[in-house]
Amino acid sequence: MAPQVRELRWPADRDAVLSFQYEVYEGNFPGFRVTAEFLREYAQQIKMASRSPYEKLYVLDDNGQVCGFIWMEVRGTMIDPLIGYIKNIYVAPQWRGQGYAQALLHAADEWFMRQGCTKASLDVSVCNEQAINCYRHAGYEVTRYRMEKHY
Ligand SMILES: CC(C)(COP(=O)(O)OP(=O)(O)OC[C@H]1O[C@@H](n2cnc3c(N)ncnc32)[C@H](O)[C@@H]1OP(=O)(O)O)[C@@H](O)C(=O)NCCC(=O)NCCS
Repeated sequence: MAPQVRELRWPADRDAVLSFQYEVYEGNFPGFRVTAEFLREYAQQIKMASRSPYEKLYVLDDNGQVCGFIWMEVRGTMIDPLIGYIKNIYVAPQWRGQGYAQALLHAADEWFMRQGCTKASLDVSVCNEQAINCYRHAGYEVTRYRMEKHY
């Protein structure tokens, strides 16, 4: 059976979800190193999020093996009283390019809409072409640029 989207189970899914963070953080923030301390804090944040009514975590489950995850949140902004925000998404390399991120993003859309959101948003590094294409494919458009300059 193909991997299925299901709710995160804490702490059973902890180690799999933490193992994904090396690629997520070191790939998207060049120069950043994932440390044991970082993972400890991250685990704490996920634990809190799994109990929060404003956050939701789903995983991709391949016959008992976790091979992907998505973390989302509903929040208010200056313009939107309630907006969905994708905090993190990951699909294991062997499952990429087969639409599993789309399945996770679709599950996020459904959860956001159930919470009353009329819009979803996310941030992505300009170097992460795979993720940018994936988000465009799911209907996301660029609405802001974040600009930096080096001294
Ligand atoms: C980004 C990520 C979640 C995409 O997962 P995925 O399951 O491969 O995505 P999908 O199969 O649903 O891809 C859908 C679209 O994404 C794009 N895409 C997927 N793989 C791609 C690749 N290797 N190169 C370029 N675009 C790609 C394509 O537009 C694709 O649509 P298509 O099938 O019409 O070509 C996955 O690459 C990943 O986990 N990356 C590491 C973690 C990460 O960087 N997360 C994002 C943090 S912002």
